[in-house]
Amino acid sequence: MKKVVVGLLGCGNIGSGVVRLIGQMRQDIREHYQLEIDIRRALVRSTEKKRDEAVPRGILTETPEDVLNDPEIAVVLEFLGGEQPAADYMARALRAGKTVVTANKMALALHWRELQRAADEGQSGLYYEAAVGGAMPIIRVLQHSLQANHITRLSAIINGTTNYLLTRMTDEKLDYQTALSEAQRLGLAEPDPSSDVEGEDAAYKLSILASLAFHAHIPVSLIQREGMTRISQVDIRCARDMGYTIKLLASAARSGSEVDAFVSPVLVPVHHPLASVKGAFNAVYLHGHAFDDMMIYGRGAGSAPTASAIVSDLICAAQDPAPAFSTFEVVDGLSDSVSMAKDRTCAFYLRLQVKDDAGVLAHVASCLSGEQVSVRALQQPQATENGAQITILTHPAEESRVRSAARAFDPKLVKVMNILRVEE
Ligand SMILES: NC(=O)c1ccc[n+]([C@@H]2O[C@H](COP(=O)([O-])OP(=O)(O)OC[C@H]3O[C@@H](n4cnc5c(N)ncnc54)[C@H](OP(=O)(O)O)[C@@H]3O)[C@@H](O)[C@H]2O)c1
Repeated sequence: MKKVVVGLLGCGNIGSGVVRLIGQMRQDIREHYQLEIDIRRALVRSTEKKRDEAVPRGILTETPEDVLNDPEIAVVLEFLGGEQPAADYMARALRAGKTVVTANKMALALHWRELQRAADEGQSGLYYEAAVGGAMPIIRVLQHSLQANHITRLSAIINGTTNYLLTRMTDEKLDYQTALSEAQRLGLAEPDPSSDVEGEDAAYKLSILASLAFHAHIPVSLIQREGMTRISQVDIRCARDMGYTIKLLASAARSGSEVDAFVSPVLVPVHHPLASVKGAFNAVYLHGHAFDDMMIYGRGAGSAPTASAIVSDLICAAQDPAPAFSTFEVVDGLSDSVSMAKDRTCAFYLRLQVKDDAGVLAHVASCLSGEQVSVRALQQPQATENGAQITILTHPAEESRVRSAARAFDPKLVKVMNILRVEE
């Protein structure tokens, strides 16, 4: 029986889940993998704090060196959260020859280069299945199941909080604030939800997924990002009337040597597989030249689902004859062969508040056609307190032209309420 000695950095929600799951699965892991897991130490801020009863008090420490300098600890599991000191501790562990398993998308996406260097230096492994999509096995699929493909596109729902909010706003017609208060009460949104609702969390995860899918480092700083706070009940209703639902998508596409990557609210056709991903669930929809289309779906967060991915990484790490780390390019920007797209071509949704006057529609149509943007569908103008509202779906057009047409609208006649991308 092989024995692996493990140290934990953090023992909160996820750390406790990992200790509990290892306890539940200890006998199965022995039988199926001939592996004995010994959890030696767990770093926390305060050893006095009340914790899950699955966590033995004796393993807790407030001294990072108890984990990082213990020569018997071969694998370090990191779930401190945040950028620092998590990234520093991981780099120290890697340089010391310890394999690291992490759930921390932020530290990983922002410090990939140092972490890979440290792993190179220590000849150690870096595993991060839990950093994207919780229990969903997307990292291993990208690394080990789809190598014989050119992956050209991925569209993902990888933030459970925003998907929960949009689902409640769509299905129960709640306004944003009510849905957010409910999610905070249920522990599905942080007291400060900005990282989720502004799309930051999804951008970290997209940086990791797109880099693996396209074999080129796609830094977070090059991902265009727009949150969901501008989405109103009116947008949700207008989208539904046109056969769409609104999702916060993290999308990346590669065409030749150009990559386009963004996080943004998008109109998704109701029959698209991503439209059926509800509540806190996550999904990644991929297209590759050989496998065609594929969707991976599962619980994207929570103590037990995330622990499932971490313990799986731990078992893989303990069994790997040589430690493994990913295939990102070790560069600050993109690898030489790839550049970020300057513009994007897709269909767009425009919601306009217009003066209830003859000639306004002709003015809107003329601004759009002036930029060669053609209209695919137009909802009947609906009277509102301030005039009328019209909703337009365009045929695929360059984003810069759509925005330029919107800037050309006469502000005395037309107010742009929202412009959103449309997934086909
Ligand atoms: N929650 C999820 O569903 C989920 C899903 C996937 C990935 N993740 C990732 O998992 C990580 C952890 O999340 P979590 O929900 O478990 O967070 P958490 O409940 O806040 O736990 C953080 C743990 O780290 C310890 N800690 C934090 N900073 C420390 C420091 N400077 N020194 C020593 N100990 C420190 C805390 O100690 P105390 O206990 O003493 O405060 C706590 O035990 C994050 O990177 C998160 O993005 C979470």
